[in-house]
Amino acid sequence: MSRIVYVNGEYVPEEEAKISVFDRGFLFADGVYEVTSVLEGRLVDFAGHITRLRRSLSELEMASPCTDEALEAIHRELIARNNLTEGVIYLQVTRGAADRDFAYPAEGTQPSLVLFTQDKTLIDTKAARDGIKVASVPDIRWGRRDIKTVQLLAPSMCKMAAKAQGADDAWMVEDGFVTEGTSNNAYIVTGDGTLVTRNLSNAILHGITRAAVLRMAREAQIKVEERPFTIDEAKAAREAFVTAASSFVNPVVEIDGVSLGDGTPGPIARRLREIYIEESLKTAT
Ligand code: PDD
Repeated sequence: MSRIVYVNGEYVPEEEAKISVFDRGFLFADGVYEVTSVLEGRLVDFAGHITRLRRSLSELEMASPCTDEALEAIHRELIARNNLTEGVIYLQVTRGAADRDFAYPAEGTQPSLVLFTQDKTLIDTKAARDGIKVASVPDIRWGRRDIKTVQLLAPSMCKMAAKAQGADDAWMVEDGFVTEGTSNNAYIVTGDGTLVTRNLSNAILHGITRAAVLRMAREAQIKVEERPFTIDEAKAAREAFVTAASSFVNPVVEIDGVSLGDGTPGPIARRLREIYIEESLKTAT
């Protein structure tokens, strides 16, 4: 059965959805996006995703297509129309359609708004059970990774380079330090049980799952350090994991062919995944 998607004010079957060839999202990757997870037909941390969307739009001086309330209503309508119980909702705003020009179009150009659902298992996954393997690759992305833009070719290339080495994902490295995964934030647990993840800056996306997981770790009396770490430090770590809205907490069991610990998901990653899912099921709206 085909999905019902939302395009600029209309709910249509996916085969009928249309966007202009002059849309700046298509021509310039001039757009931003959010991915919100859905559990039991409810939205996980919707407020966090909307707050980040507002920041992305404002950093790019991009007009907003509608109010937060209207965006929430579209999310709910798509969940209902597609009978989505577990999966994600993808939202994209672009600067809209205008004749091709590097300068932003005149004020008043209507931004484009597209949303669609992806039906997918989030809780009971193989990656959560067995962990994933990562390979380090140079971070070739631009300098404003804190803005969630749709220009995803660089991380896509990084992921393919990691897959060519037999890994599931890349950990991207810049100036000797890990920035993040291609679509997730990266963490290690050092020998003394300290959780280390890169501090917030323009070098990484400010993950909504990251904020929640760090809060939960601190509440569970786990010592947290927000600082850059190297691949060598990661290879020597007790355990490692990644976080994202679309995968929650996923253990990392191998880095550049080196097994971490006994090569199975570590206890801190497993515990934080459990806490995250339990709390999300309670607080999803
Ligand atoms: N990606 N870092 C990058 C580069 C990301 O693309 C993502 C999310 C994250 C995690 O952010 P959050 O916890 O807010 O999902 C970190 C989404 C899921 C995607 O592109 O599909």
